[in-house]
Amino acid sequence: MDIVIKQKNSLHGSVTVPGDKSISHRSVMFGAIAKGITEVHGFLLGEDCLSTISCFRKLGITIELQGETVFVHGKGLHGLSAPTEVLDVGNSGTTLRLMSGLLAAQPFTSQLTGDASIQKRPMNRVAVCLRQMGASFECADEDNLHAPFTIHGKKLKAIEYTLPVASAQVKSALLLAGLYAEGETVVIEPEPTRNHTEIMLNYMGADITTNGTTIHCRPISQLYGKRIDVPADISSAAYFMVAGCVCQNAEILLKNVGINPTRSGIIDVLLAMGADITIQNQQTVCGELVGDILVRSSGLSGTVVEGSLIPRLIDEIPILAVAACFAKGTTVIRDAAELKVKESNRIHTVVTELKKFGASIEETEDGMMIHGGNPLTGCTVETYHDHRIAMAMAVAGIMADGETIITNAQCANISYPAFYESLLQL
Ligand code: S3P
Repeated sequence: MDIVIKQKNSLHGSVTVPGDKSISHRSVMFGAIAKGITEVHGFLLGEDCLSTISCFRKLGITIELQGETVFVHGKGLHGLSAPTEVLDVGNSGTTLRLMSGLLAAQPFTSQLTGDASIQKRPMNRVAVCLRQMGASFECADEDNLHAPFTIHGKKLKAIEYTLPVASAQVKSALLLAGLYAEGETVVIEPEPTRNHTEIMLNYMGADITTNGTTIHCRPISQLYGKRIDVPADISSAAYFMVAGCVCQNAEILLKNVGINPTRSGIIDVLLAMGADITIQNQQTVCGELVGDILVRSSGLSGTVVEGSLIPRLIDEIPILAVAACFAKGTTVIRDAAELKVKESNRIHTVVTELKKFGASIEETEDGMMIHGGNPLTGCTVETYHDHRIAMAMAVAGIMADGETIITNAQCANISYPAFYESLLQL
């Protein structure tokens, strides 16, 4: 499906973007291994989270959908049953990596697969540490694990593990395995990453403590199903934050957005660039900080984005690059080599596509450099089946002179099924 985007000179209104993808995945996974019903409100009905639901149904869990409310009939820590079919995670790296940790500790064998993109994404990062705990993975290339692969569940032992890359998915896989392991699992992160796993598991009765970048997980006898209210996804809100800043005549209110400090790097960077952003009605819901974000037209300036900021905005870098095209001066993004192993190589795909608009942007080894101020002109862009590239380029299209065509635009369904409608509504 191709979408035609026309330039807009004014953006006004209020948007409630869909539920947080990371939290929606976790609500189903953790609800499945908790005792009793987990009632999830504001669940993201995007393709990735639906893949998680489909995998857990194959593990014997009853999951009912009523609009954006999901009822997970959890069977407790030891209640999953052996799947009789292959577990297909579709495009979802979070599903594949977190489930690897969980399934490694079950008393049965599971086979996992996913789409063409997922089959290229590195899985050694989870296999290396889970194997140290005693996990057994079987794959065509044992030393370079990729989907499809088989997990033979084993009795695991706890380890202390220092993550070589900052990855919430690997940390979460270890913590899930740690729930079942003998002893205390300790994970040390190079930089803090999103901590939704720690927050939600503790909310359901786990015993996880965090001290700086060190996380301790002790085994427990049971988790308990609870009501979970999923906040709107800051990664989806980011497209409207940038559109609101860059558009000459804009005022956009983004309601009930998750602003957990491990995720809110995009707000900090836009503020440092001179954005007119205010946060209202802050409160904590189910352990997660949420608030309304008001964005108005702003004159942005270039900045440097690096170090511990990167994991706090890793998924927002494509749209941040669009913001940088409209900022005065140069923006440098470094320490972001992880972008190369996302749904597409996002250093290459962002730079390639923004160049088509006439942006002055260069790839670097671990990020990109953007010289802002070149006017953007509408063009035809590719999405590489990567939802974040599609949505970032749509925002570039709204701001560019003339008309932009987004080819294969439907991949936005992965995380934001009504994205183009929301953009048009403003
Ligand atoms: C996620 C963690 C991040 C992020 C992904 C979702 C999660 O991946 O990019 O979209 O829900 O834990 P990494 O852990 O690979 O950095």
